[in-house]
Amino acid sequence: MNPPLPFSQASENNKRVILEVLARHLTRGDSVLEIGGGSGQHAVFFATCFRELHWQSSDISSNVDSLNLRISAAQLPNLPAAISLDVNDPDWSCPCCNVIYSANSLHIMSTASVEKFFSGAGTKLRDNGVLLAYGPFKYDGAFTTESNAHFDLWLKDRDPRSGVRDFEWVNDLAENAGLTLLEDNAMPANNQFLVWKKTKLEHGVR
Ligand SMILES: C[S@@+](CC[C@H](N)C(=O)[O-])C[C@H]1O[C@@H](n2cnc3c(N)ncnc32)[C@H](O)[C@@H]1O
Repeated sequence: MNPPLPFSQASENNKRVILEVLARHLTRGDSVLEIGGGSGQHAVFFATCFRELHWQSSDISSNVDSLNLRISAAQLPNLPAAISLDVNDPDWSCPCCNVIYSANSLHIMSTASVEKFFSGAGTKLRDNGVLLAYGPFKYDGAFTTESNAHFDLWLKDRDPRSGVRDFEWVNDLAENAGLTLLEDNAMPANNQFLVWKKTKLEHGVR
């Protein structure tokens, strides 16, 4: 008997609204790197919807086998096996790409890892590439809703290194990595979908 595929109800609930935003930013032929692929539901759904782009999912090594259960079951030509990628890896072992996508990972990672997430994304994205990050954020130090405040406490109780991140802090990290905010989309269930673009270097100086 085949092992059960990993499943996240949240991924099932948010994949269609995420798709609407992704559709505005993905172009035929794009190569996408997904960070923190989790159950693989997003990877399979988006690779099915966008057959003409290459979707490379990844996760930390302890999660890759589970992620690949769903990816290999899908057998999609544009969705290769997920690779092991921890944002703290000194050199992300993947080629440069046009798009980096990550959902619900920045509040799970430590703040040091979030810093590595942005510096790595700035390095791996090609000029004019986009970084898309979905999840809850705080603004001016305040939660957008009471339920996000409770979620933050729940996260920290589970792992003190986790927590809902400040939008201003992540945007500063993005800017320092050469990325410019294009969109901050308010999404259902108290989430945001942030989109940055890697702007071309002028005379090699940023
Ligand atoms: C809440 S899950 C989200 C999974 C999936 N993206 C989704 O939306 O359902 C957080 C993901 O971040 C990954 N993650 C945590 N720390 C990471 C790190 N240092 N580098 C890369 N991924 C990491 C976890 O392994 C997990 O897959």
